[in-house]
Amino acid sequence: MSLQRVTAFAPSNIALTKYWGKRDHTLNLPLASSISVTLSELGSLTVCAPEPGLSHDVMAVDDRPLDDAGMIKVRRVLGIIREMAGSDVHAGLNSINTVPTARGLASSASAFAALAMAASHAYGLDLDKATLSRLARTGSGSASRSIHGGFVQWECGQKADGSDSEARQLFAADHWPLTILVAQVRDGKKKVSSTSGMRMAASDSLTFRGWIEQCEKDVIACQAALAAKDMERLADVVEGNAMAMHGTMMASRPPLLYWQPATVGVIHTVRNLRAEGTACCFTIDAGSSVVVLVEPSDAGPVAEALAAIDGVETVLQTRVGEGARLVPERG
Ligand code: DP6
Repeated sequence: MSLQRVTAFAPSNIALTKYWGKRDHTLNLPLASSISVTLSELGSLTVCAPEPGLSHDVMAVDDRPLDDAGMIKVRRVLGIIREMAGSDVHAGLNSINTVPTARGLASSASAFAALAMAASHAYGLDLDKATLSRLARTGSGSASRSIHGGFVQWECGQKADGSDSEARQLFAADHWPLTILVAQVRDGKKKVSSTSGMRMAASDSLTFRGWIEQCEKDVIACQAALAAKDMERLADVVEGNAMAMHGTMMASRPPLLYWQPATVGVIHTVRNLRAEGTACCFTIDAGSSVVVLVEPSDAGPVAEALAAIDGVETVLQTRVGEGARLVPERG
C-alpha cells in the first residue's frame, strides 16, 4: 500500500431539483432523486496527508480546526477509505473553501467531494466516479453530485446499504453553457444546517409527503427541459421545486425560514425580467442567497439588476463547470 500526500479540487453544485429528505440519516440516502448544475471555480481545495505518527485524524477548514459535527462526517468517509485500502494510518487534512461558507451555497458539497477524491488517492486507491460519488455522499448528500461536471443526477436508489445511490452526468458542461449568478444576501451565518433542517421537515412538516412525490416528477421534467435547452420549461420546474422545498421548510414545526427581504426582492426581479423577455430563472438552497441561471448574452444586465436590490451584498458570476479533479503537487 502506498501512502502519499494528495491535493484535489472539487466544485460546488447547485440543485435544480432539490434533495430535502432522507431515507437513511447515517448513509445520507435521499427519499427522492435530484438534479444539479456544477459550478466552475467556486469550490474546495483539499490536501490529504496520511501520517503514520498520528493518533487520530485532524482537519482544518479555512485555517480553523473543523468542529466536532464536521469531524464525525470526515472520519466516516476516511474510515471507509481505510477499510478499502487495508490501512490503519490516520491523516492530516487541510481544506480551503472558495465558496463563502454557510451563505446558501453548499460548501459541504465541494468539501466532501474534494475529500473523497484526495483521500482515496492518498491511500493508494484509484476509484471510479460512481464509487467516489457514493463515498462523497456518506460525508454530505449533495457532495455525491460534485464529483461530476455539467448537469448531474443523483439517483435516490432503493437498496438499504446505499450501493445504488450515486450521481451520474446527464449532460456535459458545454451542452448548455449558462452563466450562473449568485446574489449573496446580507444575513449572517445560516442558523439551521441542512442536516437538521431535513430531520425537522421529515418529522414535522405538514407538506412533506407531497413534496417528496413532486420531486420525482420534477426530476423528469427537469431532464426534458435541460435536453431541450428550454429556459421557460426549466424556470417552471426549477423555481417551482425551490419554492416547494421552502414551503416544506416553512411548514415545519418550528417553522424554518431562511429568506430575508432581499431574497424576496431577487425572486420578484427575476420573474419580472423573464416576463419582459429575458431568459433566466432562480433557485434557493438552505439559505437566503439566490442563484440565477441566465443565458450569457443577458448576464450583464441581470447581474446589475440584482446588485441594485437593497440587501444584496455581492453578485458572484460563474459558469457551468467540470467535476472534481486531482491537483498536481508543487515541487
Ligand atoms: C438545500 O447535502 O448539505 O442544498 O446530506 O445532511 O450533508 P447533508 O445535507 P446537504 O443538503 C443540501 C440541501 C440543499 C439541496 C440540495 O443541494 O439538493
